[in-house]
Amino acid sequence: MKNIAFIILVVLCLGCNDKHRGPGKDQVKGNGHGHHKDGQPKHGSANAYMHQSSFEDLIERFESPERDSYQHPQKVLEYLGDIQGQTIVDIGAGSGYFSVKLAEKGAIVIAADVDDKFQEFLKNRIEKNSLRNIETRKIPYDSPNLKEKEADMVLIVNTYHHIENRSDYFAKVKKGTKPNGELVIIDFFKSETPVGPPLDHKLPIDIVVNELKKAGYTSFTVNVDLLPYQYIIKAK
Ligand SMILES: C[S@@+](CC[C@H](N)C(=O)[O-])C[C@H]1O[C@@H](n2cnc3c(N)ncnc32)[C@H](O)[C@@H]1O
Repeated sequence: MKNIAFIILVVLCLGCNDKHRGPGKDQVKGNGHGHHKDGQPKHGSANAYMHQSSFEDLIERFESPERDSYQHPQKVLEYLGDIQGQTIVDIGAGSGYFSVKLAEKGAIVIAADVDDKFQEFLKNRIEKNSLRNIETRKIPYDSPNLKEKEADMVLIVNTYHHIENRSDYFAKVKKGTKPNGELVIIDFFKSETPVGPPLDHKLPIDIVVNELKKAGYTSFTVNVDLLPYQYIIKAK
């Protein structure tokens, strides 16, 4: 593919020389982002930061044409390959920005989220637009609640950094993915970007890859060129 550089990372390829690595913390466990024992986001977490905005503002932001201009959803869909008939679990589906597009392209989509309001919004969206091949699934903060080998693909967009104890969490994701299936993570470069969460909530690529290795993933394809502010990690 023209203009797209791929870095294939294999096991034991630690500390990739990524231009977007930035001053990451070498944590493997969660960094306190998003744990909700009492239903409230932890102070300073990615979820607490997100919920500083009203629900209406979040929906507007997630679904805005400005987002399309940097998120390039059609390029992302192309990059995912042939998804027709594939079961895709979108973890942290939010308003359904990607879930709906995936379903329209013929995937069977499970739009999973911890948040009742987003799930309710998406349910209404599905009903109103008579969308097919897509269902919502309310999940807890610490588990994707996948059945064994349920997913051909697990997609997680701008949400990886919201999850705690990620190596444990993604070991569960791996169990819920078919042997030939893959995990696709899209999240913000650890650098100053005009959009996205604050710098200290962002995770550099090598930390993500190390956490996924601990979760049992062994092969990685990292793309840093398709999108201006986000990397895409495919892991198996
Ligand atoms: C920044 S939004 C991204 C929404 C969507 N993926 C998108 O790209 O528009 C983060 C989403 O992750 C959800 N979330 C936060 N913590 C989560 C967790 N532990 N498991 C699953 N979803 C979570 C939030 O409720 C929210 O919908």
